[in-house]
Amino acid sequence: MKSIVILISGRGSNMQAIVEANLPLRIAAVISNKADATGLEYAQAKGIATAVVDHRPHATREAFDAELMRCIDAYAPDLVVLAGFMRILSDGFVQHYAGRLINIHPSLLPAFPGLATHRRALEAGVKIHGCTVHFVTPVVDHGPIVVQAAVPVKHGDTAQSLAARVLQQEHQIYPQALRWFAEDRLHLHQGQVNVHGAQTLDTALRSPWEAS
Ligand code: GRF
Repeated sequence: MKSIVILISGRGSNMQAIVEANLPLRIAAVISNKADATGLEYAQAKGIATAVVDHRPHATREAFDAELMRCIDAYAPDLVVLAGFMRILSDGFVQHYAGRLINIHPSLLPAFPGLATHRRALEAGVKIHGCTVHFVTPVVDHGPIVVQAAVPVKHGDTAQSLAARVLQQEHQIYPQALRWFAEDRLHLHQGQVNVHGAQTLDTALRSPWEAS
């Protein structure tokens, strides 16, 4: 069975969704850069190994990343799963895990990379928003897309209400992507991901919508 290490910085609801999906994967450890990340308590209660690698004592990003790599590599995972890990990773880190590092981002990439995606989506007036699971490359919030989920932006939405709608989808597509990984169905080819055996919908999502 393949194994994964999950990196978190906070509540870890995506990590919980992954754990609760009972995937055919061994979750070797959950690692946080913050000792008070609430997701750590959940992982411990589930009997999963946890570790904290605090970024603050490290003078440089590279020094922190080197320590983080040592901690991750002790578990020898097949895949490193970023789940609300709020640190920008150095090129050296990303290259070390090339093709073995995956992230979820709360927007339909390549729209709205970076922070405050829901507020920025509302300001831009988009009618459809969503989330993306992608392999990580040195460019932040860039890299081969595995799966996306789209949600409507509703009249009167706030950044919070929109975030909640997107998060529900995050909790669906991240376990799904990891199941495909576990089943050896993700294939990277020329910077794009093929999911063997998965189907695409024949319908479109339109928003706003009115029956004609
Ligand atoms: C999620 O919206 C994720 O997409 C983003 O940060 C948030 C983390 O939430 N990168 P959680 O810690 O998984 O609950």
